[in-house]
Amino acid sequence: MRAPIVIILAAGQGTRMKSATPKVLHEIAGRSLLGHVIEAAATLEPEHLVVVVGSGKDQVIAHLDEIAPWVVSVEQEQRNGTGHAVRIALEFLQGRGISAGDSPVVVLTGDTPLLTGSSLMSLLSSHVDRQAQATVLTANFVDPFGYGRIIRSGDQVTEIVEEKDATPQQREINEINSGMYAFDGAALQTAVTGLSSQNSQGEEYLTDVIGIITARGGVVAGFSAQDTNDIMGINDRAQLAQAAAIMRDRINVKWMQAGVTMLDPASTWIDIDADLAADVTLLPQTILRGPTAIESGAQIGPGTTLISSEVGANAVVRHTWAELVVIGAGASVGPYTYLRPGTVIGEAGKAGAFVEMKNAQLGAGSKVPHLSYVGDATIGEGTNIGAGTVFVNYDGVEKHHTSVGDHVRVGSDNMLIAPIVIGDGAYTAAGSVITDDVPAGSMAVGRARQRNIVNWVLRKRPGTGSAKAAERALETDK
Ligand code: UD1
Ligand code: CA
Repeated sequence: MRAPIVIILAAGQGTRMKSATPKVLHEIAGRSLLGHVIEAAATLEPEHLVVVVGSGKDQVIAHLDEIAPWVVSVEQEQRNGTGHAVRIALEFLQGRGISAGDSPVVVLTGDTPLLTGSSLMSLLSSHVDRQAQATVLTANFVDPFGYGRIIRSGDQVTEIVEEKDATPQQREINEINSGMYAFDGAALQTAVTGLSSQNSQGEEYLTDVIGIITARGGVVAGFSAQDTNDIMGINDRAQLAQAAAIMRDRINVKWMQAGVTMLDPASTWIDIDADLAADVTLLPQTILRGPTAIESGAQIGPGTTLISSEVGANAVVRHTWAELVVIGAGASVGPYTYLRPGTVIGEAGKAGAFVEMKNAQLGAGSKVPHLSYVGDATIGEGTNIGAGTVFVNYDGVEKHHTSVGDHVRVGSDNMLIAPIVIGDGAYTAAGSVITDDVPAGSMAVGRARQRNIVNWVLRKRPGTGSAKAAERALETDK
């Protein structure tokens, strides 16, 4: 069998989405609707894949260049129907010297993100095995309203009638047209030239190709979808959410079968590009976006979002938001930690409660346990940053870097005013404002000396609760 040509129809407006974004660019599981369809189509290893664009074409074309530069797009300037769209795609190929005449042609729509490659493979191989001129992917719906109905004679499909053009008896038919087909290229090419717009919508219907092929004595088969979710088209935000939930379940089942524990799959959202090892545990409300990778034994969540980040083996990440971050093996992050791009937590490192880090590399075994901001910093190994420390990286105009060595002890509540370098093994006193470099092994004290004004309260606040408490204390001390 020759490699097929795939045509994806994506020129429609998607009015019911009520969106400034073209419908096929809306995302589920971190990939556009169109991206999911292209991914499924790619399993057929098509010789050419043509996307018919129209509404929002500049955005759609830019997106295609980014995600699938190997596909070509053709513009349908006037939306004259699905048949017209296919005709334009075939004419475009012909214009490039590519004849569809001796290849199978698979026609899909850009808004069916749950379509799988294996469903397409089954459709195409059934089409080829039966030597049909056309094979329609169909499904039986309890409520077929709005879909084209499949008219059969025995196991042959003779015609597809649109809802708006159907007789009351035809509307009783439950078998519907998914809008996806495999065609014999030559039969399709001839049939699309014979389409008319004499119907209730004044459009060239691709579905009329079926009647035309039948009338010429061709064989049209119907192939029933194994999973009706596969053909679910997205028209509005409610359907988008429904499809997202189905995709989430598919992804979660795949990872659970690969050895991932999930306490609450319904609240666990994993993008299609994530990669998880066996024996990862995901607690409720974990969201893994982009190409996030988690190694074995790591425990993520509850309440954690990781975007394009890596987590090493046996790390624990609780109640955290992290983007473009690397968390080392055995590290501990959270709860309530915000890790921004460029942050690296070394092996067995710790970023604890109410810690924010940005573009900061924390060495192996180093800890930022509580209530700190660490921005634009390099921290060595075995170092501890005291509670409430701020890496003061911004002078109001520019950002500056702080370097902290190995086995340093930064006291609690320090302000480290960048740019500075704190040498290996140095200590800083609690409450210090560190403005100058600290040599290795030194103790830096950057704070005013304490002075007690004896009996100030008794003199200046006589009769207050404070004064009375002090008097009682001084009395008993006597
Ligand atoms: C179509 C089928 C119907 C089927 C249904 C499945 C026809 C005439 N009818 O109806 O039998 O049950 O899909 O969802 O084909 N498009 C273009 N250019 C156009 C018109 C449409 O690219 O000029 C694209 C749309 O963006 C969409 C797809 O083709 O992705 C289907 O078009 P739509 O108008 O939604 O067809 P339906 O009326 O749903
Ligand atoms: Ca539709």
